[in-house]
Amino acid sequence: MRILAIETSCDETAAAIVEDGTKILGSSFASSTAMHEKYGGIVPEVAAREQLKYILPVINQALLTGSDLKESRGQIPLHTIGSSIDAIAVTVGPGLIGSLLVGVETAKTLAFALNKPIIPVNHVLAHIYANFVNTTMSGHSESVSRRTKNLGQRPHHNASLDPSLSLRMTDKIQFPGISLVVSGGHTELYLMKSVKKLTWLGGTLDDAAGECFDKTARLLGFGNRGGLAIQEAAKQVKSKKSKVKIKLPRPMLNDDSLNFSFSGLKTAVLREVNKLKEIEQFNNETIQQLSFEIQETITDVLVAKTLQAAQKYEVKSILLSGGVAANTRLREKFNLSLITCHLSPGYLFVPPINLCTDNAVYIAAYAYFRGQAIDWHSLEAIPDLPVETAN
Ligand code: KG4
Ligand code: ZN
Repeated sequence: MRILAIETSCDETAAAIVEDGTKILGSSFASSTAMHEKYGGIVPEVAAREQLKYILPVINQALLTGSDLKESRGQIPLHTIGSSIDAIAVTVGPGLIGSLLVGVETAKTLAFALNKPIIPVNHVLAHIYANFVNTTMSGHSESVSRRTKNLGQRPHHNASLDPSLSLRMTDKIQFPGISLVVSGGHTELYLMKSVKKLTWLGGTLDDAAGECFDKTARLLGFGNRGGLAIQEAAKQVKSKKSKVKIKLPRPMLNDDSLNFSFSGLKTAVLREVNKLKEIEQFNNETIQQLSFEIQETITDVLVAKTLQAAQKYEVKSILLSGGVAANTRLREKFNLSLITCHLSPGYLFVPPINLCTDNAVYIAAYAYFRGQAIDWHSLEAIPDLPVETAN
């Protein structure tokens, strides 16, 4: 089954064609991130206006890279799209209303014109399904490439080239599993009893982990570059082997619940920044030290809570996903924790970095494994779509 998926929940515009939820045939992506830099955060109206410009070229580009359509050039005729796909999937929430509407209305129009079923997708739950997509890339070796303004395909490799992938991810991932979704707006833990069955176990009581990275990055003067900027600055500390003197609190680390809280961490960082500014010590070195400690704190809490859930439910696998799962230190710590807990490396699943951050590939994967087609008349954008699922 070939699904054309559309994702426009935040400032990015993405489209992909994926076969049977696992094989990427085409994928395209555009972002307005750079345009928001001067405002210190995403401006919803600017994002939606840009998405209106990008949406059709992005879909066209994804179709052009689709295997059957490789010979075509330029604009894909509607009847060719119709014969190349079986269904359309689209993110309906959670997200920014203006942005969601661009994707939802485009998907509806295509479903109507092509007479195809339409599958609504929950963006947060969909992140998990990046783990089921076959790729040849190791999540650890690939670097993040954030495209701004320009259109392009993120590199995806054909699964059939790699013999080790003869065993599909769906066969490798054993259930029950614990799934941690860590994105800009969400930090959620799920128990996964099967590829379809998800039970929400806990989440953040205030800020998400990604939000904490983003807000503290701004306090440190990194603008909108968020977690990636903190990761890069933190690396400097390690390479210089400098001793980190700043210590931040690990919120809810020793708490029995499977919830998180990150807003106190942001306040603690603000306090440190103000203290350093007062004594004129807010400089490159202290910024790097703060970055190091912020990253250590957030990743310590994420790893500890996920392992706590894994032990409680005696699971056979851990699945990471969401933009923060692109963090190399988080990946490293999870790998180290497997050794400490005497677990095999095959216990941990992490998508390649370009499938952690927002894209349409995992929207298609979710639609294939867990989605349900509805009549296009009833499809609507739901900005506050709940993520606390019980089945
Ligand atoms: O999943 P995502 O692309 O978008 C949402 O659904 O929110 O996640 C974006 C979040 C941002 O908070 C960003 O700072 C964070 O992922 N992020 C990272 C890294 N790359 C992206 N956080 C830490 N380290 C990274 N390397
Ligand atoms: Zn996301």
